[in-house]
Amino acid sequence: MTEGKTEKRSYRSPRGLRDVLPQDVGVWNRLEEVARRLAGQRGFSEIRTPMFEETELFTRSVGEVTDIVEKEMFTIKKGEHSLTLRPEGTAGIARAYLQAGFAKSAPMQKLFLIGPMFRYERPQKGRERQFTQFDIEVLGSLDPRADAEVMHLAASFFEELGMEGLELRMNSMGDGEDRDRYREAIREFLAPKMAEHCELCQSRFTRNVLRVLDCKNPTCVELHQGAPIILDYLSAENRAHFDEVQDLLESLDRKVVVDPGIVRGLDYYTRTVFEVHYPALGARSALCGGGRYDHLLSDLGGPDLPAVGFAIGFTGTLIVLDQLGLKSGLIEDVPDVYVAAADDDGRRGVFEVAEELRAGGIGAVFDLEDKRMKAQMKAASKGNHRLAIIVGSDELARGVVTLKDLVQRTQTEVERAGIVEATRLALASTE
Ligand code: HAM
Repeated sequence: MTEGKTEKRSYRSPRGLRDVLPQDVGVWNRLEEVARRLAGQRGFSEIRTPMFEETELFTRSVGEVTDIVEKEMFTIKKGEHSLTLRPEGTAGIARAYLQAGFAKSAPMQKLFLIGPMFRYERPQKGRERQFTQFDIEVLGSLDPRADAEVMHLAASFFEELGMEGLELRMNSMGDGEDRDRYREAIREFLAPKMAEHCELCQSRFTRNVLRVLDCKNPTCVELHQGAPIILDYLSAENRAHFDEVQDLLESLDRKVVVDPGIVRGLDYYTRTVFEVHYPALGARSALCGGGRYDHLLSDLGGPDLPAVGFAIGFTGTLIVLDQLGLKSGLIEDVPDVYVAAADDDGRRGVFEVAEELRAGGIGAVFDLEDKRMKAQMKAASKGNHRLAIIVGSDELARGVVTLKDLVQRTQTEVERAGIVEATRLALASTE
């Protein structure tokens, strides 16, 4: 391009990223509000960690031989440093917990985070390259009540939004010795079929055999039918933990489906793993995934402290809310009052009345486009405001304004001087 000349072109957001437009922000706010309320009621404190971390934090925690680390990280190289946009929240929270000294000062922490995560996935329904997670973590406890508490919380989040038809599925990944025995059994099961597997599975077979089971390739999925299940390899202790979590959930009348197929795509899990599914979404039906990660803190250089948590993805949640026709019920309230100018003299009056109402704690808007009276009233009812206040020169001269109830379709004149009180009364009567 020659200097001084700019080519005219338009721009779009990068693939897999999207804008949340004003008409949708209300629903997002409701999701966050429900998340914060449920977490707060249960003693979880909010934590905010950076959007990117040292790349090694993720290779160490999520695992080298995982889809996330092998294919999906947005990595930035700056000089000597390799930095990665966080693909998930748990690693950063565990790092922050250790860095803040909680492991010594207050090892029992209940934390939550709401924020964007980044994965270079093939964009498709329910999968984006930037997506938001509500992440819950209980650090410092091995108590099965912690597992049951977070699982119940995950399911309650969806119920609180009015969603039905979801399934809470759980499995155990065992730990230590039982995992070793299971790995061996899987290796034996897969070995004779390896030649028929995809290339990625073949390379994973030697590097991290359990990750072969993650493959979504239909041929490989077929080959995995009849594979040994880890529940048959659990130690008595881990079996007791698994049973106790189920008992606790049962005591809350929470239905859980035991699903030996849940292997989770991240390496840090031990014992309890679970997912919340909306089966009608098909292959990618998980709206939430989580579980225990009892060795992550020590793998990241801290003491041997257990932990359990989950992350709910907002992308899938919003799709299901839409499918169930629940989105419109979650839209945020609009300001109660539309202040309309009946004539030119009313224009300043409208401005003053709106500010007076706002100072009195009442939401109010007015027209900035010089619309005629009729168009202003149309905007007032289209905008779902509850009241219109009409300000005109005649009325102002008499010290009054007109108050129109847009729900009950009545109208009265009220004293200009007592406008805030009169509006409050009128709003109370339309409740
Ligand atoms: P995850 O299963 O990888 O677990 O992700 C949790 C949820 O985030 C998924 O069930 C899905 O709803 C959503 N999600 C994941 N990737 C995408 C994407 N590309 N687009 C839209 N939504 C997506 C974790 O991230 C763990 N850190 C959960 C955890 C917390 N485990 C223990 N503590």
